[in-house]
Amino acid sequence: MKSREDYERLASEILSCTKCPLHKSRSRAVPGEGSLDADIMFVGEAPGRNEDLEGRPFVGSAGKLLDSLLSSIGVERSTVYITNVVKCRPPGNREPYDEEVKACNPYLRRQISMIKPKVIVALGRVAGRTLYEMAGLRWSGIRAARRRVERVRIEGIDLMLVVTFHPAAALYNPGLRGELEDDFNNVVAPLVGGFKTARRATLEEFFK
Ligand code: URA
Ligand code: SF4
Repeated sequence: MKSREDYERLASEILSCTKCPLHKSRSRAVPGEGSLDADIMFVGEAPGRNEDLEGRPFVGSAGKLLDSLLSSIGVERSTVYITNVVKCRPPGNREPYDEEVKACNPYLRRQISMIKPKVIVALGRVAGRTLYEMAGLRWSGIRAARRRVERVRIEGIDLMLVVTFHPAAALYNPGLRGELEDDFNNVVAPLVGGFKTARRATLEEFFK
């Protein structure tokens, strides 16, 4: 972690950002929230309606599902960091355009470089593709990426990158819910549990 001051400066830049057209329709930008010492960072796609109104990530129905997935694996929401690929809500919840993702990407990079997470969990296709590209990995779709733990370097930080479905996708398509739960239980939980019980272990020690 850098200083809280640096973080607050970044958050206020995001709150007043006009670097892409999404600023015109937003109520509030949503920088992200959580522990600046977090070992684990969750990255979603973009704020939805509730997030746009409250200025906080994952507070609507997808957020409720994320909360219950976290508590099912014994993780307190306040101990992780949660953000999105783009910080402003796309009108009507459409997917963000590539140019918007690109314009907003420096903020995500700065968040990663400040928080230095050991694990990033990308939620859904847009987050998965964006983080794979940031890591220099080839993106072949969420089905190929899912259940893999990739060791990557982003902004000079060595970390584990995991991709799973977006909680909102599991709400629309209940068939995905079991797979999402399975990913939390069998991919995310072992990583997080490992860091809890051996906080000082290096990545090398943990994965040998
Ligand atoms: N969906 C997202 O991708 N992010 C949020 O913050 C809320 C819903
Ligand atoms: Fe700025 Fe990102 Fe919001 Fe676009 S989405 S206006 S780049 S903060």
